[in-house]
Amino acid sequence: MEQHVFDEFCKIIHRESGIALTSEKVPLLTSRIARRLRALKIEDEKRYLDYMLQDKTGEELINLLDVISTNTTYFWREESHFEWYAEVVNRFRNEGKEELKVWCAASSSGEEPYTLAIILKSMFPNNSKILATDISMTILQRASRGLYPAPSIETLPKNLQKYFKIVDHEGEPWAQIHPSIQQSVLFKRLNLSNFPYPLKGPLDIIFCRNVMIYFQTDLRAKMVQQFERLLVPGGYLVISKTESLIGIQHGLRNLGNSIYQRV
Ligand SMILES: C[S@@+](CC[C@H](N)C(=O)[O-])C[C@H]1O[C@@H](n2cnc3c(N)ncnc32)[C@H](O)[C@@H]1O
Repeated sequence: MEQHVFDEFCKIIHRESGIALTSEKVPLLTSRIARRLRALKIEDEKRYLDYMLQDKTGEELINLLDVISTNTTYFWREESHFEWYAEVVNRFRNEGKEELKVWCAASSSGEEPYTLAIILKSMFPNNSKILATDISMTILQRASRGLYPAPSIETLPKNLQKYFKIVDHEGEPWAQIHPSIQQSVLFKRLNLSNFPYPLKGPLDIIFCRNVMIYFQTDLRAKMVQQFERLLVPGGYLVISKTESLIGIQHGLRNLGNSIYQRV
């Protein structure tokens, strides 16, 4: 891909999603864009760039952001966060709280929010809703099906696996999430680089893991400001253990293990 075309894509992607691509990402960008070239039968990246810029519906921009975003996720990722979450949810229940508001930001294909939903449902059977958001429409659609290759749920503890039913899907065993859990998760598109977030607080717990790594510090700082604003005093923000809030001004208390609390 020619340098000026790459630069133009980077500018648009950064402006629209916050994702910062450096020049060593040329091969990655080229291979991701190749998917759109094949789908649209367009010959090269420059023509694709023009096509996208001329698309007044904005649909192709969403398709571009879809192929650019890295959706890697899996059940029970960074498991200590879920163990901590189960304890906190239990504590809230014992304190007599009747409802918890939980947001899973950058929820990808649903493994993370469904796990949060299962744990929540087991303690708040009648009042458990999780908001799960992502920038990618494709991944949100996949997440809302709640259908996973059967081996992928094996990382979950046995008592959580029982919320899935093994079904035949195109001749292979797949794990289908229980409808009551599926219905308790609301999937919505939300771009974390657009401010302010169109959400009503106060929220009790926010999970936002493995997405800040794609953003620069100024954007991360704005995100954390929004999280802080939306959290109830005493509420929690969980980020990935590979991420940190170092260099960001905030008023959250650091509890360790990448968990922060609004004071
Ligand atoms: C690596 S996955 C992380 C999934 C999950 N949170 C986890 O920790 O396993 C990153 C997700 O962030 C989403 N994403 C990237 N940029 C985003 C943005 N600006 N707003 C919202 N989601 C975004 C991607 O579509 C992708 O699904």
